[in-house]
Amino acid sequence: MGELLRMVEDEDDIDPQQLWSLATNMKSERGGDWHMARVENLTWRLRNMWSKNGQEAKNIGAAQRLLQFLEKSSVPLKKAPEEMRAPEGLQSVGGRQGLKGSQLLEVSEFGTGDFRTPSMDVCFRKDGSRLLPLVYKHHRVIDGILPSTSGLPFLGRHNSQGAQSLVVDMVDTYTEVQVQLVYTVFPSISAVSRRMVVKNSSKVGLGGVDLMKCMSATFDFSTDDWHLLSLHGGWANERHINTRRIQEGMIHLGSNRGVSSHQMNPFCVLSSGPPAEDHGQCFGFCLLYSGNWLMEVEQSQTGCVRVNVGLSNTHFSWALGNQESFETPECVCVFSDAGLGKMTRTFQHLIGERLIAPRWHDLVCPVLINTWEALYFEVYHDKILEFAKPAIEAGVELLVLDDGWFGKRDDDTTSLGDWVEDPRKLPRGLKGLAQDVNAMGLKLGIWVEPEMVNQDSQLYRSHPEWVLHHPGRLRSEGRNQLVLDLTRREVQDYIIDCVSQILSSANIEYIKWDMNRALTDAFSAALPPQQQGEVYHRYVLGLYRIFEVLTSSFPHVLFESCASGGGRFDAALLAWCPQAWCSDNSDAFSRTRIQMGTSMWAPVRCMGAHIAACPSHQTHRTHMLKTRFIVALWGTFGLELDLNKLSREELKEMKELVALRGKLCQVVLHGEYFRLPGFGYPGASHSNSAGIGDSHVYAWMFVTPEKDRAVVSAIVFHRDTVGKFPSRLKLQGLRPDYLYSLIEHVPTTVEEGVFNGIFQPGGPQFKHRRRLMLTGAVLMEVGIPVHFNFDGDAMLLELEVGGPSQEPKESNGVHVLAS
Ligand code: GLA
Repeated sequence: MGELLRMVEDEDDIDPQQLWSLATNMKSERGGDWHMARVENLTWRLRNMWSKNGQEAKNIGAAQRLLQFLEKSSVPLKKAPEEMRAPEGLQSVGGRQGLKGSQLLEVSEFGTGDFRTPSMDVCFRKDGSRLLPLVYKHHRVIDGILPSTSGLPFLGRHNSQGAQSLVVDMVDTYTEVQVQLVYTVFPSISAVSRRMVVKNSSKVGLGGVDLMKCMSATFDFSTDDWHLLSLHGGWANERHINTRRIQEGMIHLGSNRGVSSHQMNPFCVLSSGPPAEDHGQCFGFCLLYSGNWLMEVEQSQTGCVRVNVGLSNTHFSWALGNQESFETPECVCVFSDAGLGKMTRTFQHLIGERLIAPRWHDLVCPVLINTWEALYFEVYHDKILEFAKPAIEAGVELLVLDDGWFGKRDDDTTSLGDWVEDPRKLPRGLKGLAQDVNAMGLKLGIWVEPEMVNQDSQLYRSHPEWVLHHPGRLRSEGRNQLVLDLTRREVQDYIIDCVSQILSSANIEYIKWDMNRALTDAFSAALPPQQQGEVYHRYVLGLYRIFEVLTSSFPHVLFESCASGGGRFDAALLAWCPQAWCSDNSDAFSRTRIQMGTSMWAPVRCMGAHIAACPSHQTHRTHMLKTRFIVALWGTFGLELDLNKLSREELKEMKELVALRGKLCQVVLHGEYFRLPGFGYPGASHSNSAGIGDSHVYAWMFVTPEKDRAVVSAIVFHRDTVGKFPSRLKLQGLRPDYLYSLIEHVPTTVEEGVFNGIFQPGGPQFKHRRRLMLTGAVLMEVGIPVHFNFDGDAMLLELEVGGPSQEPKESNGVHVLAS
C-alpha cells in the first residue's frame, strides 16, 4: 500500500475519488471476480489515505491509466512508478516470489514465480527472453464452437447443437502476445474440452516467437488423496490399466514415437482415493491427438496437483512469425461423481455423438473376415474366393483383403508406396476381385499403409527425398520401411491421389489404414532450419488433411485405423476412422485386458475385435470358440481365420454364433456399457476385479437406453481353487422395478460321465432348468451366481423385459442360473 501511495503521489493529476468509483463499477460489472474486488479495495484505501494527506482531486485520464495498471496486475504491486509509465502504455508487473506457485491457474508460465511445470514456454528470438507472464484481459461466452482453422479434430465439429464456448483472452502486457483459452461444454454432460490459441502480436519489436511448449490444458487441483490411472503396454499388449497413488514429484506420461503409441495412451484419470468402477470422484483426461503427446502430473509441496495435457515438448518448437497463431489439440476432461463407469459412459457418449461423423452414428459394424492371419501374403484371386465361400455360409458381410495385394509384396521388404495391384495375384485387378466378391454377396475392403515406403519400391526410386531423414546421417528402418514426409503438401497429395484412384477403380467399401513403425529421423528437407521442431506436429496435421480429403470424397467408405495393431488407437483418429484395430493380439485372455483398458474412454463400437484361429497366433493358447466369440462380441466383431480349416460342426457353430451376434449387436454397440466390479473368487483381492488390477475374473455388460434389454458377459482366466464359486455377479444399469427374463446363450456343458465330485455334468446340482425371472433390483443388489467349469470358460447372458426371446434348449445342458 505504501508503494502504491508513493506511485500515485508522483502523479499530480489523479482523482482518487474517481479512481475508486471506476473500480467499484468494474467490480460490480464482473461479479465474483476476486481480482477486481481487490483492486476496488486498494483504490478505496488509497482514496482515504490521499484525502487525509489533503490531496486535490484532479484528472480522470490518469485515474483510468492507473486503474488499467491495477487491473492488469494479478500479483501485488511492487513496481517503481517510472515502469508504469513505460512507452505505449505498457506495464510490467512483478510479484512476490512463490506466490503464484500455490495458486490454482488455468494457464501457467515459468520464470515469474510459479515453479511447477508450466503450460507454456516461449523464446523471443530477438532478445532470447523466455518470460511470458499472462494476465486476464477479457472473456466472452458464445453459442456453439469457436471455429478452428488448424485442421485438428475437436468435439462438436459435426454436431455443435447446444454447445457453448467460453473464450478467455489472456495477454502478456509487456509484449502483448495473446493467449486464448477456449472451453466448450455440451448440454447435460459433465465434461469440458479445452484448447489454447497463441497469437504473436508482439508490439515491442521482439519479432518472431518460438513456442517451445504449448499445452492444451492445465488443470490445478487443491489437495486431496489423488490417484492416477493410466493405460500402458506395448505391441500386442496395449492399454493395460495401471493405478498408483500420486505423491510429491512428477509423473510423465507420453509418447515421442510420432504416434500416440502402444506404450502409453493419451488418456489418464485423476481420482479422489483409489479409482473404483461405481463410486468416487474422478476426472478423466483424453487428448484428441495422434502424434507426440505429454501428460504431466505433478504434486507440489503444498499437496496441490497439476495435470498438464498437450503436445510433447521433446524435439518440439513452433516458429510464430508476427501476427501468426498456433492452435493446440483439444483436451477433453470428463468429471464423474460415481466412479470410472460413469466417466467411461460420458466419454463414450461424447465421442460417439460429438466426434465421430454423423453418418456413422447408427453404424452396426459389418461382420468382416480378414485375410491376414489366414493367408498372410498369399492373397491370390482364386484363393481369396475359396476363402470367401465358407464365410458367406457363416453369415459374414465384408471381406477385407489385407497386406500383400500390391507391387511385388510377398513379404514385408518391398513395395510399400506402389499402390498398384500385383498382376500375379490379382490378374483382374481389384475391380475384378470386387466384382467376384460382390457377386458372392460380400462387400470388399482393402488394407493400405500409405504413410510408408520401402526402399525397394518405384516410389522410393523416384522420390528418395520424400522420406523423413537427415541427408547427412544414417537413418533407421522399422519393419524394413521408411516414413514418408507428410509435412510436404506434394506427399499428402500423392497419398490422396493413390487412395482416391484405388477407391474409384473398384467397388471398395472399407479401408483398413495401417501404420507399422514409429517415426525417427524426423527431419524434413522441405522445411527451413528454424522450423525443424515442427516436423512431428506437421506430420500429424498432414495426416489429418489426408483423412479429411479422402473421407469427404468417399463418404460411403468405412475407414478403420490400425498401427501394428493398436499403436495409434486415439480419440482423434475416430473423427475420420470410426473403427480402430485394438491389437494384433486376438488371444481371448490378452484381449480381455486390452479391451478393458481401451473401453475406459473408447466407445465399444470403435474397438476392432475378431475371432482368430486356435491356437492363437500370438500366444499359442487354446480357447473354446465360445470364449473367443464372447470377447470379439465386445467390439466391432469380425473373423480372422481360415474357415476352410474348420470341421463341419465348427463351421455350423460359427454360423450360429454370427447369427447370435446379429441378434445382440444393437444392444452391444449402441447400449450403455458397464464394467462389473467386485466379482471374483473369495479370498482373492477382487474389489475392482472386473476392471482394474490383476484379476482372473472379468465381467461387463450392455444395456439399451430404454433399459429393456441387456447383454452380460463374464470370463475366467484362472478358475482359482477347485470347488470355490466366484462371488455373485451384480448387474448394473437396469430398471429396479422391471422384471427381466434371463437366458444363457451357448452355455458350457461338461461331458456326461466325467463326474468325479468336482465336475458335474452341466454344473453344480443346485442349478436348475426353469426359466429365470428376476427384478432389476434383485439383479443389481443381490446378483446372480455364476459357475465357471474350467480356466478360460466364459458366460453370455441375455436379459429382456417380460419374457425371453428364446427358450433355453434342454439339449444344451443345464442353464447356470440359480433362483
Ligand atoms: C499390421 C496389422 C495387422 C496386419 C499387418 C499386415 O501388423 O496390425 O493386422 O494388417 O500389419 O502387414
